[in-house]
Amino acid sequence: MDSFEWNKIFGGLLAGLVALLGVSIASDMMFTRHLPEKPGYEVAGVEEAPADGGAAVEAEKPAAFYLASADVAKGEAVFKKCSACHNAAAGGGNGTGPALHGVVGRGIASHPGFNYSDALGGMKGKNWDFESLWGWLKSPKAYAAGNKMSFAGISKPEDRAAVIAWLNTQSASPLPLPAAPAEDAAPAAEAAEAEAAPAADPAAK
Ligand code: HEC
Repeated sequence: MDSFEWNKIFGGLLAGLVALLGVSIASDMMFTRHLPEKPGYEVAGVEEAPADGGAAVEAEKPAAFYLASADVAKGEAVFKKCSACHNAAAGGGNGTGPALHGVVGRGIASHPGFNYSDALGGMKGKNWDFESLWGWLKSPKAYAAGNKMSFAGISKPEDRAAVIAWLNTQSASPLPLPAAPAEDAAPAAEAAEAEAAPAADPAAK
């Protein structure tokens, strides 16, 4: 082969590369601008952990603790995260998510005309009460793996309680909020046991 032929070969390769580059740029322009109709990513409720990790480490108390002092007005504001997909007004229809008027106390996956996932549909027969909503809104994914609500969950327990308490007001028959749990009873009993334990030891030897 002489150098002329080599030139042709390299020239051909180069042309091929340039063509590939052109195709990739063109396809980028064609495809990257289109967002999927149903977002496959989590759209809201992604709350950043505090920089010092403080609140994240603190153990969460039971739902009733936060619900007993829930801020209903704040709940209405928190619901803005949900309203892209849900309508909670009386007579409101289904959107991306099912209509939520009267959802507290309603059967899971029971709203007419909504095409629920198998994950949620499989829970039919159970009700959305304060406890189940607490689990669902903390992490929909953990509560019902494979469900189709693209929402990360509400990490702040105060916000979660607020939106549940507000949803409870969006109902023809709101349920009574749970009473605050008697917080000290359990730890006190444990402490008493711990004190009693060493006294029993010598006798056992
Ligand atoms: C990106 C859209 C989207 C957002 C945002 C969203 N949801 Fe949903 N939600 C859905 C979809 C879709 C379903 C149905 C899930 C399934 O069938 O798996 C659903 C289901 C539910 C259900 C179960 C209702 C039933 O009839 O069983 C409740 C309760 C609920 N969402 C509450 C909320 C609340 C409260 C928020 C805000 C904190 C929220 N959702 C945010 C889309 C969304």
